[in-house]
Amino acid sequence: MPLSLEPDAVTITSSPVDEVDLHAQGVFEGGVESSGVDPTVAAAEDFRAKLGQTLVTVVAGRPTVLVGLGAGDDLDPAGLRKAAGAMYRRASRATSVTTDLVALAAGHLEGGVREAARAVTEGLLLGSYRFDALKGEPEEAPVLASAVLTVAEDDVDTAVEGLAAGGATANAVALARDLVNTPASRMRAVDMADAAIAAGSAAGVEVEVWDLERCRSERLGGLLGVNAGSVHEPRLIRMEYNPEGAASTVVLVGKGVTFDTGGLSLKTSEGMMTMKTDMAGAAAVVAAMSALPAMAPSVRVVGLACCTDNQPGPTATMPGDVLTIRNGKTVEVLNTDAEGRLVLADGLSLAVEMEPAAVIDLATLTGACMVALGKGVAGLMGNDDDLISTVRGSADRTGERVWPLPLPDIYRKQLDSEVADLRNIGAGRYGGALTAGLFLEEFVGDTPWVHLDIAGPAGTDEAGGEYSKGATGFGVRTILETIASLA
Ligand code: BES
Ligand code: ZN
Ligand code: ZN
Repeated sequence: MPLSLEPDAVTITSSPVDEVDLHAQGVFEGGVESSGVDPTVAAAEDFRAKLGQTLVTVVAGRPTVLVGLGAGDDLDPAGLRKAAGAMYRRASRATSVTTDLVALAAGHLEGGVREAARAVTEGLLLGSYRFDALKGEPEEAPVLASAVLTVAEDDVDTAVEGLAAGGATANAVALARDLVNTPASRMRAVDMADAAIAAGSAAGVEVEVWDLERCRSERLGGLLGVNAGSVHEPRLIRMEYNPEGAASTVVLVGKGVTFDTGGLSLKTSEGMMTMKTDMAGAAAVVAAMSALPAMAPSVRVVGLACCTDNQPGPTATMPGDVLTIRNGKTVEVLNTDAEGRLVLADGLSLAVEMEPAAVIDLATLTGACMVALGKGVAGLMGNDDDLISTVRGSADRTGERVWPLPLPDIYRKQLDSEVADLRNIGAGRYGGALTAGLFLEEFVGDTPWVHLDIAGPAGTDEAGGEYSKGATGFGVRTILETIASLA
């Protein structure tokens, strides 16, 4: 059970709640004095209501955790989510908690009560995420079993809507985290496919899985070339959400390299350590797809996850080999560690065959993107300014950090090959995130397309707010928000 607090355990009410163990009371900066806390206690603990700061104390005779919301003017859904995640951490040893965070924050958010309820729900639930299935003895299990969000009577219905959206989103993010956190030996391409089938059928999303033979007959030369060194079969997972009356189609494509050894261009042991996360793009796609029925956007969405491990071995693709991608283009593989773009080339080719209004790919694609933007920010590239700003705006609203990078045509010649249409690595040492993006661009034609390089933010070393160490589920929220704004 990845979410120790489950969506059903969070409820909305407008009546006073007394039979709870703990009250979580939001406080804005400057509001500590009027919050009812003993000023000497607040001072002793240096509680100044900074965003995400908490203080366990007694207010009006009730056990209370004060939750800092920072300056009201600066509050946004991302900050509220962080505060709610911090609140979960401080409240998790009580059995039940009630909080006024939604009511307090609503007036400071553009989306009002709905967005406030959604953000608090997401923060609470995701703050409760833990991946301890493989621990013999789980570390002190949280006991918090229910949370009640109090709002004004007129706001109950709106808050319930936000709660539902937040619950569906948190479930999807938790699923993505689970898939990524699971060790590679337990999350091979076939396991990804099983997980997609399970999540898809539970949610009411169609799932189709192509096995090795089908990948061959469909000419997925990139995916097969990466898979060549492995004893484990690849899988192309196709999920479809097709609501009645959908006017247009969006295709999502995810890099699903379940473990990236680098292949014959072998990584160092250090470089390999985190490579079970190299399917985070595919995990985000599978998870977001399974949340769509609950969100009910009026757009058709197809999700493609290109899954295989990347292994060295006697049958592995060798540097200098040439692969033929689904769309007929040939690629000289000069570095087998630049494998993500090869599996995506097939995925993007399949995507544009559907003539969609937009294609969005997510991939832990390059170390160079991490050099450029660090661990916390994804690179955003694409061939369509409108779609780029839509995705950027959506990411900003969800608090997932993205930053635009260019696809400079002056670098395109770095991908020229002597023997094939393209080579799979840039000829120079610099700008690796951009040459990877330029490579992908070769497979989308004129279809509006955005590429998110999530190599950095797919995982985190710091727990806090709604994050625990390990997988973040990055991309799920941006995808869902983008689809909502395209619908
Ligand atoms: N999966 C890696 C990128 C990566 C690196 C993700 C570190 C997360 C953390 C990708 O397949 C890769 O190895 N890229 C190479 C490309 C190079 C060979 C052109 C890289 O970035 O070094
Ligand atoms: Zn690689
Ligand atoms: Zn990789």
